[in-house]
Amino acid sequence: MGDHVTISVNGRPLTVPAGALLSVVLAQAGITRFRRSVHGEARGPLCGMGVCFECRVCVNGQPHCRSCLTLCEPGMEVCTDD
Ligand code: FES
Repeated sequence: MGDHVTISVNGRPLTVPAGALLSVVLAQAGITRFRRSVHGEARGPLCGMGVCFECRVCVNGQPHCRSCLTLCEPGMEVCTDD
């Protein structure tokens, strides 16, 4: 399984292809609410190319990471608002 890595998503392990886009693996895992707007509305990827900032999640304690620009790495800890 050298071509896969395990990351943590909201405290749960998730095995994904190494180097996969984080936004893609989160969507494939069934997560639809990546973050919330200031009014509490669900937000998720829109542009898929780093422009809209709707796909932000917390990665390794760093908030506001654009998941559509983030590649999955071993041991990565991801938190969403799902
Ligand atoms: S989906 Fe638009 S910045 Fe990530």
